[in-house]
Amino acid sequence: MPKQPMNRPHRLTKAVIPAAGLGIRFLPATKATPKEMLPVVDKPAIQYVVEEAVAAGLDDVLMVTGRNKYAVEDHFDRNHELETTLSHNDDDEKLARVQESSALAAIHYVRQGDPHGLGHAVLCAAPHVGREPFAVLLGDDLIHPRDPLLARMIEVQEQHGGSVIALMEVDPSRIHLYGCAAVETTAEDDVVRVSNLVEKPTAAEAPSNYAIIGRYILTPAVFDVLRTTEPGKDGEIQLTDALKRLAVGDGSPVHGVVFNGRRYNTGNRSDYLRAIVTLACQREDLGPDFRTWLRSHVDGLAATEPAA
Ligand code: G1P
Repeated sequence: MPKQPMNRPHRLTKAVIPAAGLGIRFLPATKATPKEMLPVVDKPAIQYVVEEAVAAGLDDVLMVTGRNKYAVEDHFDRNHELETTLSHNDDDEKLARVQESSALAAIHYVRQGDPHGLGHAVLCAAPHVGREPFAVLLGDDLIHPRDPLLARMIEVQEQHGGSVIALMEVDPSRIHLYGCAAVETTAEDDVVRVSNLVEKPTAAEAPSNYAIIGRYILTPAVFDVLRTTEPGKDGEIQLTDALKRLAVGDGSPVHGVVFNGRRYNTGNRSDYLRAIVTLACQREDLGPDFRTWLRSHVDGLAATEPAA
């Protein structure tokens, strides 16, 4: 095992995953099924997010849930009946896949109760997190497993202290969908210092085209700020507003890691479809056949499209 340097801060172990949203954009699929359980190829979207946290070394996951989220709990629990059937049928491969999700990490749950926004969801994690730094991963953002972002953010947090957010440059016409950061460069190409934040600004109000994507490394200082953060955009307690207060204050810095890798927004129907097609194409088992079909399907589409 590698030796920890003497001055190394407390190793990050906890991840918080807000999962209380109603999934309005995916109705009627999400009428009785949590949006986090919608499959991306053959795994629920939320399993990718838990796997990402585990891959970055976090082994304690707190899900902030709400009503109708029992399927999420069941998915990360053992299913003895199914496991017994698969093992009687000698279906070891499926058995392993079924057991995978329950063996990933220690998963805990807290219910948000009132839907007061992302800042409020994060505040619900305070008793579980205690006084250590922790990660927040939003389920709608799926980061490609081969483009590690969280590990880099943890490294930056250990180096600079304070909070670290993930940023991605987006077309100005799309900035109103995100929290937006005003930034200053640092000595490192992929790291910026955040000097201000605005939740979902219009293109005219936006201080930059750096959008917050759903990965955060936070310290417990954020809880103290969230407790006194007034409702902001859409009448909700916004995490962005609390981080803005930290960024403009003189206490704890906020840095951004600029991500250039592959990210899919599974909270949007058309991006969700793109995520499934992209990940299916890359799969060793499904990819070859699926790519062949996709090529001929696209050719067929081109042949039936009216000439420009
Ligand atoms: C949330 C945050 C926003 C961030 C986005 C990333 O918004 O409030 O700052 O840019 O996640 O996905 P939501 O998309 O949940 O409305």
